[in-house]
Amino acid sequence: MGQLGDRIALVTGGSRGIGLAIARALDHEGAALILVGRDSKALREARRTLSGPAEVCRGDVRRPNDVRRIFEQARRRHRRLDILVNNAGMFTYKPFIKTSLTEWENNLQTNLTSLFLAIQAALPLMARSRSPHIVNVLSISARSAFPNCSAYTASKFGALGLTRVVRQELRPLGIRVTAVLPGVTNTAMLSAFGDKNARAKALDPEDVAKVVVGAILQPPRASVEEISILPSSGVF
Ligand SMILES: NC(=O)c1ccc[n+]([C@@H]2O[C@H](COP(=O)([O-])OP(=O)(O)OC[C@H]3O[C@@H](n4cnc5c(N)ncnc54)[C@H](OP(=O)(O)O)[C@@H]3O)[C@@H](O)[C@H]2O)c1
Repeated sequence: MGQLGDRIALVTGGSRGIGLAIARALDHEGAALILVGRDSKALREARRTLSGPAEVCRGDVRRPNDVRRIFEQARRRHRRLDILVNNAGMFTYKPFIKTSLTEWENNLQTNLTSLFLAIQAALPLMARSRSPHIVNVLSISARSAFPNCSAYTASKFGALGLTRVVRQELRPLGIRVTAVLPGVTNTAMLSAFGDKNARAKALDPEDVAKVVVGAILQPPRASVEEISILPSSGVF
């Protein structure tokens, strides 16, 4: 058994990419997993790659009713939640002037409002945990501005601000809150990215997953608050 043998972890966007790599790393440490995404088939396939207890929950993290249902399922099954990984995300790569209101809203809802919804829904369950930990997978775009990423950057800057406030409010409750800021990573999301050479230099999802699990495995006295991980060649 790994170091997280008694933990229940929920990973949004756990069907592929960075979320699946995080789920696999948590599984390797013995945690029981709940994988969330919109595609049931992809979720079931992702679950098959895990060796320990894991269930899937189809839902759209932008929708309040879906988020309520996801955490209600977790409550009925487990009574508590130890680890929440807010990882689901989307990315629009376009000049600001060509970004539609729909794309703007989709980035904000998927990358920012989802955190508001999931953390509020998770807190009653995390209050029952002995070592509660929230990890928000953000982006280096939460701190730095790059052209053609206005909606994404606005959503990730907002998500970092929300993370910092929530961390302060949850500290007295013993809930650790970590923001992970990856640079370009080799996943499906990278297809939307303009730089065709990015894939060759990109991080692997497993690189990001190691950072996430490393933060979770710190002793309770230590909180990894914000951590960025970039390709060695730089941001791109
Ligand atoms: N790849 C990069 O270069 C990079 C760099 C920095 C940060 N990040 C961040 O890392 C996180 C994961 O990205 P990734 O690269 O692994 O992307 P990905 O391969 O496209 O995976 C995205 C995951 O999120 C899920 N998802 C998307 N929208 C959702 C919604 N509305 N409701 C529920 N699930 C949803 C997807 O499943 P369904 O589509 O089936 O729902 C999928 O499981 C994101 O927050 C992203 O911003 C990525």
